[in-house]
Amino acid sequence: MVDDNCFSSPFGALQLTRASRTQSRTEQNLRAWDAADELLLANLASFEQPKGARILLANDGFGALVCSLPADWQIDFCSDSHLSTQAAKINLAANEKPQSHIQWHTSLGQPTEPLDVLAIKLPKSLSLLEDQLLRYRPLCSAKTRVIAAGMVKHMSAGAFALIQKYLGPTRTSLAEKKARLIFCTPGPEATTPATNPYPKRLTLEDYNVTVTNHANVFSRDALDIGTRFFLAQLPGSTEALRLADLGCGNGLVGVALAGLMPMAKIDFYDESFMALASARTTMGEAFPTRVDQCRFIADDCMASAEPEIYDAIFCNPPFHQHNVVGGFVANQMFHDARRALKPGGALWVVGNRHLGYHQHLKRLFGNLTQVAANKKFVVFKVVKR
Ligand SMILES: C[S@@+](CC[C@H](N)C(=O)[O-])C[C@H]1O[C@@H](n2cnc3c(N)ncnc32)[C@H](O)[C@@H]1O
Repeated sequence: MVDDNCFSSPFGALQLTRASRTQSRTEQNLRAWDAADELLLANLASFEQPKGARILLANDGFGALVCSLPADWQIDFCSDSHLSTQAAKINLAANEKPQSHIQWHTSLGQPTEPLDVLAIKLPKSLSLLEDQLLRYRPLCSAKTRVIAAGMVKHMSAGAFALIQKYLGPTRTSLAEKKARLIFCTPGPEATTPATNPYPKRLTLEDYNVTVTNHANVFSRDALDIGTRFFLAQLPGSTEALRLADLGCGNGLVGVALAGLMPMAKIDFYDESFMALASARTTMGEAFPTRVDQCRFIADDCMASAEPEIYDAIFCNPPFHQHNVVGGFVANQMFHDARRALKPGGALWVVGNRHLGYHQHLKRLFGNLTQVAANKKFVVFKVVKR
């Protein structure tokens, strides 16, 4: 019998899981690795690295890379994703792998030591790639082996251009199982001065707010039209309510709520570390005296929220998780929100009309009010009874 979770590379065999909490069949049938992981590991196994070699792994999806590499290498694991970081830790533990050789970094931090290998799984967002290249290039020299890996369908000309601009000339491997590697030997490009354009600031004059957007944040170049529609429907109150902005991105929804509810305490949840950092800065600049009462929580939906603590939760759900499209994250968010709401508390949701959130919300809460709708978007409110 073929074991669907069994992953093998030249470094050995592992059992790997996506560690997903969602009940989605689509997601559960997906593997915790892709052919780009396999190709990257095959390449890393093909050359000798001395004991103690330092390798930075960026954007390892579910830990296939960090779990495979030998423990006598020094590994810096860098990721913007709380989900990926958690999955990697779960897979290390499940495979009884040591962890003392691994340093964990979010996307907002990196090691200071020079690298022998820089291995990047190409992220979906070119902005994140640009930010990462700018962060990591001071750690590279002509001796650093730079390898980027991705599925051919996700590899854009822009990715090659960024690597060439910030590190040096590139060449590619042959494609294998629709994956490909990009190799680069850092040249003078790696030391030419360059300023990181991230985080960017965006002033929204209609709302009298300046938002901070780190490189991997949703709708970082302009206000999303769904969010704009949501903002117009948000309620006000003078009560000391506890609120959550679920899937907060740059935090604009929570910050708008802070303006409408002067006594409210707001918690911001997201799985992206850059989203949470953006929300903290946006809130801190808009409401410097209230930001310390807010919490900025890296979580899978609201897995860590205590039951029955919020008076209201506001959510503009994602319709994909990394590269997988579907309503499964939204559904998990609705489940978690129901648990975290006080009896009588309300969940407010904005979505594209065609996504059909109302069916799931109605089934879960047993009631539903359509607060507003236009040609594209709809805002629903459901109450926990
Ligand atoms: C459509 S964006 C909304 C951002 C922001 N609230 C707005 O309206 O502009 C959805 C957000 O959900 C976050 N997200 C995706 N999957 C998540 C998960 N499993 N747990 C928590 N947040 C998640 C994404 O990082 C993204 O910031």
